[in-house]
Amino acid sequence: MKIAVLPGDGIGPEVTREAVRVLGALALPGMTLFEGDVGGIAYKRHGHPLPLETLTMAREADAVLFGAVGDPDCDALDRHLRPEQAILGLRKELGLFANLRPAKVFVGLEHLSPLRPEVAATMDLLIVRELTGDVYFGEKGVRAALDGSREGWDLMSYSETEVRRIAQVAFRAARGKDCRVCSVDKANVLETGQVWRDTVKDAAGSHPDIELSHMYVDNAAMQIISHPGQFGVILTGNLFGDILSDLASAAVGSIGLLASASMGDRPTRESVGQGLFGLYEPIHGSAPDIAGMGKANPMATILSAAMMLRHSFGLEAEAARIEGAVERALADGIRGGDLGGAHGTEAIGAAVLERL
Ligand code: IPM
Ligand code: MG
Repeated sequence: MKIAVLPGDGIGPEVTREAVRVLGALALPGMTLFEGDVGGIAYKRHGHPLPLETLTMAREADAVLFGAVGDPDCDALDRHLRPEQAILGLRKELGLFANLRPAKVFVGLEHLSPLRPEVAATMDLLIVRELTGDVYFGEKGVRAALDGSREGWDLMSYSETEVRRIAQVAFRAARGKDCRVCSVDKANVLETGQVWRDTVKDAAGSHPDIELSHMYVDNAAMQIISHPGQFGVILTGNLFGDILSDLASAAVGSIGLLASASMGDRPTRESVGQGLFGLYEPIHGSAPDIAGMGKANPMATILSAAMMLRHSFGLEAEAARIEGAVERALADGIRGGDLGGAHGTEAIGAAVLERL
Protein backbone atom coordinates (compact mmCIF):
# COMPACT_ATOMS: atom_id res chain seq x y z
CA MET A 1 0.00 0.00 0.00
CA LYS A 2 1.78 3.10 -1.24
CA ILE A 3 0.38 6.18 0.43
CA ALA A 4 1.41 9.69 -0.57
CA VAL A 5 1.14 11.95 2.47
CA LEU A 6 0.76 15.63 1.54
CA PRO A 7 0.50 17.69 4.75
CA GLY A 8 0.41 21.11 3.05
CA ASP A 9 -0.05 24.40 4.89
CA GLY A 10 -1.21 25.84 8.20
CA ILE A 11 -2.54 23.15 10.51
CA GLY A 12 -2.14 20.54 7.74
CA PRO A 13 1.18 19.14 9.04
CA GLU A 14 -0.03 18.93 12.65
CA VAL A 15 -3.25 17.08 11.93
CA THR A 16 -1.65 14.82 9.32
CA ARG A 17 1.06 13.79 11.79
CA GLU A 18 -1.61 12.44 14.16
CA ALA A 19 -3.38 10.53 11.38
CA VAL A 20 -0.05 8.98 10.36
CA ARG A 21 0.57 7.95 13.99
CA VAL A 22 -2.81 6.21 14.03
CA LEU A 23 -2.09 4.41 10.75
CA GLY A 24 1.30 3.38 12.11
CA ALA A 25 -0.28 1.90 15.23
CA LEU A 26 -2.31 -0.48 13.08
CA ALA A 27 1.00 -1.94 11.84
CA LEU A 28 -0.47 -2.96 8.51
CA PRO A 29 1.95 -5.13 6.57
CA GLY A 30 3.15 -3.56 3.34
CA MET A 31 2.14 0.00 4.10
CA THR A 32 4.69 2.57 2.88
CA LEU A 33 4.34 6.32 3.28
CA PHE A 34 5.93 8.95 1.05
CA GLU A 35 5.80 12.63 1.94
CA GLY A 36 5.55 15.49 -0.53
CA ASP A 37 5.21 19.28 -0.56
CA VAL A 38 1.94 20.85 -1.62
CA GLY A 39 0.29 24.28 -1.40
CA GLY A 40 1.95 27.46 -0.14
CA ILE A 41 4.89 25.58 1.32
CA ALA A 42 5.53 23.98 -2.08
CA TYR A 43 5.37 27.39 -3.74
CA LYS A 44 7.94 28.72 -1.27
CA ARG A 45 10.26 25.75 -1.71
CA HIS A 46 9.80 24.91 -5.38
CA GLY A 47 8.07 27.90 -6.99
CA HIS A 48 4.82 26.03 -7.65
CA PRO A 49 1.95 24.93 -5.36
CA LEU A 50 1.76 21.54 -7.09
CA PRO A 51 5.31 20.62 -8.16
CA LEU A 52 5.61 17.90 -10.79
CA GLU A 53 7.43 15.75 -8.25
CA THR A 54 4.42 15.84 -5.92
CA LEU A 55 1.96 15.14 -8.72
CA THR A 56 4.04 12.18 -9.83
CA MET A 57 4.23 10.85 -6.28
CA ALA A 58 0.43 11.08 -6.02
CA ARG A 59 -0.03 9.38 -9.39
CA GLU A 60 2.20 6.48 -8.42
CA ALA A 61 0.54 5.96 -5.05
CA ASP A 62 -2.49 3.81 -4.25
CA ALA A 63 -3.98 6.58 -2.13
CA VAL A 64 -3.23 10.13 -1.05
CA LEU A 65 -3.63 11.43 2.49
CA PHE A 66 -3.95 15.19 2.27
CA GLY A 67 -3.82 17.84 5.01
CA ALA A 68 -4.83 21.33 3.92
CA VAL A 69 -3.69 24.14 1.65
CA GLY A 70 -4.03 27.89 2.00
CA ASP A 71 -1.55 30.51 3.13
CA PRO A 72 -2.30 34.22 3.55
CA ASP A 73 1.28 35.00 2.39
CA CYS A 74 0.22 33.78 -1.03
CA ASP A 75 -3.03 35.74 -1.39
CA ALA A 76 -1.49 38.31 -3.71
CA LEU A 77 0.00 35.77 -6.13
CA ASP A 78 -1.45 35.13 -9.56
CA ARG A 79 -4.32 32.68 -9.20
CA HIS A 80 -2.44 29.80 -10.85
CA LEU A 81 0.27 30.02 -8.18
CA ARG A 82 -2.03 30.15 -5.17
CA PRO A 83 -2.03 27.19 -2.74
CA GLU A 84 -5.67 26.28 -3.48
CA GLN A 85 -4.66 25.47 -7.04
CA ALA A 86 -2.75 22.49 -5.67
CA ILE A 87 -5.82 20.66 -4.42
CA LEU A 88 -7.86 21.71 -7.46
CA GLY A 89 -5.00 20.51 -9.70
CA LEU A 90 -4.73 17.17 -7.89
CA ARG A 91 -8.48 16.58 -8.18
CA LYS A 92 -8.45 17.39 -11.87
CA GLU A 93 -5.20 15.65 -12.81
CA LEU A 94 -6.08 12.50 -10.89
CA GLY A 95 -9.66 12.43 -12.23
CA LEU A 96 -11.18 12.53 -8.74
CA PHE A 97 -14.67 13.57 -9.76
CA ALA A 98 -16.60 12.17 -6.81
CA ASN A 99 -16.28 13.68 -3.36
CA LEU A 100 -17.92 11.83 -0.46
CA ARG A 101 -18.51 13.89 2.67
CA PRO A 102 -20.35 12.05 5.44
CA ALA A 103 -21.97 14.25 8.09
CA LYS A 104 -23.27 12.31 11.03
CA VAL A 105 -23.92 13.41 14.56
CA PHE A 106 -22.19 10.90 16.83
CA VAL A 107 -24.53 8.94 19.10
CA GLY A 108 -24.48 10.41 22.59
CA LEU A 109 -22.83 13.59 21.31
CA GLU A 110 -25.95 15.39 20.16
CA HIS A 111 -25.16 18.17 22.63
CA LEU A 112 -22.08 19.09 20.55
CA SER A 113 -24.38 20.29 17.78
CA PRO A 114 -25.81 23.79 17.84
CA LEU A 115 -29.09 22.17 16.78
CA ARG A 116 -31.62 20.98 19.36
CA PRO A 117 -30.43 17.49 20.46
CA GLU A 118 -33.55 15.75 19.18
CA VAL A 119 -33.04 17.35 15.76
CA ALA A 120 -29.27 16.74 15.75
CA ALA A 121 -29.79 13.06 16.57
CA THR A 122 -31.53 12.54 13.22
CA MET A 123 -28.61 13.81 11.16
CA ASP A 124 -26.77 11.09 9.25
CA LEU A 125 -26.26 12.16 5.67
CA LEU A 126 -23.70 11.79 2.94
CA ILE A 127 -22.92 14.63 0.58
CA VAL A 128 -21.87 13.39 -2.85
CA ARG A 129 -20.24 16.41 -4.43
CA GLU A 130 -19.11 16.55 -8.05
CA LEU A 131 -15.48 17.64 -7.87
CA THR A 132 -13.92 18.30 -11.26
CA GLY A 133 -16.46 20.50 -13.03
CA ASP A 134 -18.78 23.46 -12.49
CA VAL A 135 -17.77 27.09 -12.04
CA TYR A 136 -14.59 25.88 -10.30
CA PHE A 137 -13.05 24.72 -13.55
CA GLY A 138 -14.80 26.93 -16.11
CA GLU A 139 -13.13 29.74 -17.98
CA LYS A 140 -12.68 32.81 -15.86
CA GLY A 141 -11.23 36.24 -16.11
CA VAL A 142 -11.37 39.90 -15.27
CA ARG A 143 -12.62 42.37 -17.87
CA ALA A 144 -13.75 45.97 -18.09
CA ALA A 145 -17.44 46.45 -17.39
CA LEU A 146 -19.46 48.91 -19.46
CA ASP A 147 -18.91 51.63 -16.87
CA GLY A 148 -15.15 51.00 -16.98
CA SER A 149 -14.98 49.28 -13.61
CA ARG A 150 -13.31 45.87 -13.21
CA GLU A 151 -15.64 42.93 -13.70
CA GLY A 152 -14.79 39.38 -12.65
CA TRP A 153 -16.45 36.50 -14.50
CA ASP A 154 -16.52 32.73 -14.09
CA LEU A 155 -18.23 30.29 -16.43
CA MET A 156 -20.52 27.72 -14.82
CA SER A 157 -21.32 24.62 -16.84
CA TYR A 158 -22.18 20.93 -16.50
CA SER A 159 -22.42 18.43 -19.31
CA GLU A 160 -24.86 15.52 -19.20
CA THR A 161 -21.88 13.17 -19.17
CA GLU A 162 -20.44 14.76 -16.03
CA VAL A 163 -23.81 14.76 -14.28
CA ARG A 164 -24.64 11.16 -15.17
CA ARG A 165 -21.27 9.97 -13.87
CA ILE A 166 -21.64 11.56 -10.43
CA ALA A 167 -25.33 10.58 -10.23
CA GLN A 168 -24.33 6.92 -10.58
CA VAL A 169 -21.94 7.32 -7.64
CA ALA A 170 -24.74 8.81 -5.55
CA PHE A 171 -27.19 6.03 -6.46
CA ARG A 172 -24.65 3.37 -5.53
CA ALA A 173 -23.76 5.11 -2.25
CA ALA A 174 -27.45 5.43 -1.40
CA ARG A 175 -27.76 1.64 -1.01
CA GLY A 176 -26.23 2.16 2.44
CA LYS A 177 -28.49 5.15 3.18
CA ASP A 178 -32.07 3.87 2.87
CA CYS A 179 -31.83 4.43 -0.90
CA ARG A 180 -32.77 8.09 -0.53
CA VAL A 181 -31.10 10.57 -2.89
CA CYS A 182 -31.91 14.27 -2.89
CA SER A 183 -30.40 16.07 -5.86
CA VAL A 184 -29.66 19.72 -5.15
CA ASP A 185 -29.49 22.35 -7.89
CA LYS A 186 -30.66 25.83 -8.84
CA ALA A 187 -32.79 24.84 -11.82
CA ASN A 188 -35.20 27.71 -11.20
CA VAL A 189 -32.53 30.22 -12.24
CA LEU A 190 -29.61 28.46 -13.95
CA GLU A 191 -29.50 26.49 -17.22
CA THR A 192 -26.72 24.45 -15.64
CA GLY A 193 -29.24 23.47 -13.00
CA GLN A 194 -31.90 22.47 -15.51
CA VAL A 195 -29.50 20.18 -17.39
CA TRP A 196 -28.40 18.79 -14.01
CA ARG A 197 -31.97 18.03 -12.94
CA ASP A 198 -33.08 16.50 -16.26
CA THR A 199 -29.99 14.29 -16.38
CA VAL A 200 -30.28 13.07 -12.79
CA LYS A 201 -33.96 12.18 -13.39
CA ASP A 202 -33.05 10.30 -16.51
CA ALA A 203 -30.15 8.45 -14.86
CA ALA A 204 -32.43 7.36 -12.02
CA GLY A 205 -34.48 5.41 -14.57
CA SER A 206 -32.06 2.50 -14.31
CA HIS A 207 -32.21 2.52 -10.48
CA PRO A 208 -35.86 1.77 -9.61
CA ASP A 209 -34.91 1.08 -5.97
CA ILE A 210 -33.74 4.68 -5.48
CA GLU A 211 -36.15 7.19 -4.01
CA LEU A 212 -35.10 10.37 -5.82
CA SER A 213 -36.13 13.90 -4.88
CA HIS A 214 -34.96 17.33 -6.05
CA MET A 215 -34.41 20.50 -4.09
CA TYR A 216 -33.20 24.01 -4.85
CA VAL A 217 -29.97 24.79 -3.05
CA ASP A 218 -31.33 27.66 -0.95
CA ASN A 219 -34.10 25.45 0.38
CA ALA A 220 -31.60 22.61 0.93
CA ALA A 221 -29.48 24.88 3.14
CA MET A 222 -32.55 25.59 5.25
CA GLN A 223 -33.70 21.96 5.35
CA ILE A 224 -30.31 20.57 6.40
CA ILE A 225 -30.55 22.69 9.53
CA SER A 226 -34.27 22.37 10.22
CA HIS A 227 -34.98 18.75 9.19
CA PRO A 228 -31.65 16.94 8.67
CA GLY A 229 -33.25 13.53 9.16
CA GLN A 230 -35.01 13.67 5.79
CA PHE A 231 -31.67 13.31 3.94
CA GLY A 232 -29.80 10.15 3.07
CA VAL A 233 -27.54 11.12 0.17
CA ILE A 234 -27.36 14.70 -1.06
CA LEU A 235 -26.16 14.76 -4.67
CA THR A 236 -24.89 18.12 -5.84
CA GLY A 237 -22.39 20.07 -7.92
CA ASN A 238 -18.99 21.38 -6.99
CA LEU A 239 -19.86 24.87 -5.72
CA PHE A 240 -23.06 23.97 -3.88
CA GLY A 241 -21.36 20.90 -2.40
CA ASP A 242 -18.53 23.05 -1.08
CA ILE A 243 -20.96 25.33 0.72
CA LEU A 244 -23.43 22.70 1.94
CA SER A 245 -20.67 20.51 3.37
CA ASP A 246 -19.38 23.32 5.59
CA LEU A 247 -22.96 23.94 6.66
CA ALA A 248 -23.49 20.27 7.48
CA SER A 249 -20.24 20.16 9.44
CA ALA A 250 -21.38 23.00 11.66
CA ALA A 251 -24.58 21.07 12.32
CA VAL A 252 -22.51 18.06 13.42
CA GLY A 253 -20.75 20.27 15.92
CA SER A 254 -17.45 21.19 14.32
CA ILE A 255 -15.71 21.27 11.00
CA GLY A 256 -12.88 19.56 12.86
CA LEU A 257 -14.82 16.29 12.73
CA LEU A 258 -15.62 15.91 9.04
CA ALA A 259 -13.62 13.62 6.79
CA SER A 260 -13.83 13.26 3.04
CA ALA A 261 -12.90 10.93 0.23
CA SER A 262 -12.33 11.99 -3.36
CA MET A 263 -12.58 9.15 -5.83
CA GLY A 264 -12.28 8.56 -9.53
CA ASP A 265 -12.79 5.32 -11.36
CA ARG A 266 -9.27 3.90 -11.27
CA PRO A 267 -9.15 0.65 -9.29
CA THR A 268 -6.37 0.23 -6.76
CA ARG A 269 -3.75 -2.35 -7.75
CA GLU A 270 -5.10 -5.83 -7.12
CA SER A 271 -2.22 -6.64 -4.80
CA VAL A 272 -3.23 -3.95 -2.29
CA GLY A 273 -6.91 -4.70 -1.98
CA GLN A 274 -10.21 -4.04 -3.59
CA GLY A 275 -11.06 -0.44 -3.93
CA LEU A 276 -10.50 2.73 -5.87
CA PHE A 277 -7.58 5.08 -5.90
CA GLY A 278 -8.59 8.08 -3.81
CA LEU A 279 -7.48 11.24 -2.06
CA TYR A 280 -8.53 11.63 1.55
CA GLU A 281 -8.69 14.95 3.34
CA PRO A 282 -10.41 16.70 6.20
CA ILE A 283 -12.95 19.18 4.87
CA HIS A 284 -11.55 22.02 6.97
CA GLY A 285 -8.86 24.25 5.58
CA SER A 286 -5.42 25.32 6.75
CA ALA A 287 -6.67 27.58 9.60
CA PRO A 288 -3.61 29.88 9.49
CA ASP A 289 -4.77 31.68 12.64
CA ILE A 290 -4.02 28.63 14.80
CA ALA A 291 -1.28 27.01 12.70
CA GLY A 292 1.70 25.64 14.60
CA MET A 293 0.03 26.15 17.97
CA GLY A 294 -0.88 22.50 18.53
CA LYS A 295 -4.53 23.47 18.95
CA ALA A 296 -6.13 21.99 15.87
CA ASN A 297 -8.43 18.98 16.13
CA PRO A 298 -6.89 16.10 14.13
CA MET A 299 -10.04 13.96 14.25
CA ALA A 300 -11.23 14.89 10.75
CA THR A 301 -7.88 13.81 9.31
CA ILE A 302 -7.81 10.63 11.39
CA LEU A 303 -11.32 9.83 10.13
CA SER A 304 -10.14 10.56 6.58
CA ALA A 305 -7.41 7.94 7.04
CA ALA A 306 -10.16 5.51 8.07
CA MET A 307 -12.05 6.31 4.87
CA MET A 308 -8.84 5.59 2.96
CA LEU A 309 -8.53 2.12 4.49
CA ARG A 310 -12.17 1.43 3.62
CA HIS A 311 -12.45 2.84 0.10
CA SER A 312 -8.96 2.28 -1.34
CA PHE A 313 -7.82 -0.85 0.48
CA GLY A 314 -11.05 -2.64 1.41
CA LEU A 315 -9.97 -2.75 5.07
CA GLU A 316 -13.41 -2.30 6.59
CA ALA A 317 -12.58 -3.73 10.01
CA GLU A 318 -9.53 -1.47 10.44
CA ALA A 319 -11.50 1.57 9.28
CA ALA A 320 -14.25 0.81 11.78
CA ARG A 321 -11.64 0.38 14.52
CA ILE A 322 -10.33 3.90 13.93
CA GLU A 323 -13.82 5.36 13.80
CA GLY A 324 -14.74 3.55 16.99
CA ALA A 325 -11.65 4.93 18.74
CA VAL A 326 -12.51 8.49 17.70
CA GLU A 327 -16.09 8.06 18.84
CA ARG A 328 -15.00 6.72 22.22
CA ALA A 329 -12.48 9.53 22.67
CA LEU A 330 -15.28 12.04 22.05
CA ALA A 331 -17.65 10.18 24.35
CA ASP A 332 -14.94 10.23 27.04
CA GLY A 333 -14.82 14.01 26.88
CA ILE A 334 -11.71 14.44 24.71
CA ARG A 335 -12.42 17.76 22.97
CA GLY A 336 -10.40 20.23 21.00
CA GLY A 337 -10.93 23.97 21.20
CA ASP A 338 -13.29 23.67 18.22
CA LEU A 339 -15.68 21.83 20.54
CA GLY A 340 -15.11 24.08 23.52
CA GLY A 341 -12.53 21.72 25.06
CA ALA A 342 -8.89 22.16 26.04
CA HIS A 343 -7.23 19.13 24.43
CA GLY A 344 -4.47 19.93 21.95
CA THR A 345 -3.66 18.20 18.68
CA GLU A 346 -1.18 15.72 20.16
CA ALA A 347 -3.31 14.93 23.17
CA ILE A 348 -6.28 14.16 20.94
CA GLY A 349 -4.10 11.94 18.76
CA ALA A 350 -2.79 10.14 21.84
CA ALA A 351 -6.32 9.67 23.19
CA VAL A 352 -7.42 8.08 19.92
CA LEU A 353 -4.33 5.86 19.89
CA GLU A 354 -5.02 4.67 23.43
CA ARG A 355 -8.53 3.68 22.45
CA LEU A 356 -7.34 1.81 19.38
C1 IPM B 1 -12.88 22.16 0.17
C2 IPM B 1 -12.11 23.44 0.13
C3 IPM B 1 -11.55 23.67 -1.26
C4 IPM B 1 -12.73 23.79 -2.21
C5 IPM B 1 -10.61 24.89 -1.39
C6 IPM B 1 -9.43 24.80 -0.46
C7 IPM B 1 -10.13 25.09 -2.81
O1 IPM B 1 -12.90 24.49 0.57
O2 IPM B 1 -12.29 21.11 -0.12
O3 IPM B 1 -14.07 22.20 0.47
O4 IPM B 1 -13.29 24.87 -2.39
O5 IPM B 1 -13.09 22.76 -2.78
MG1 MG C 1 -14.82 23.91 1.29
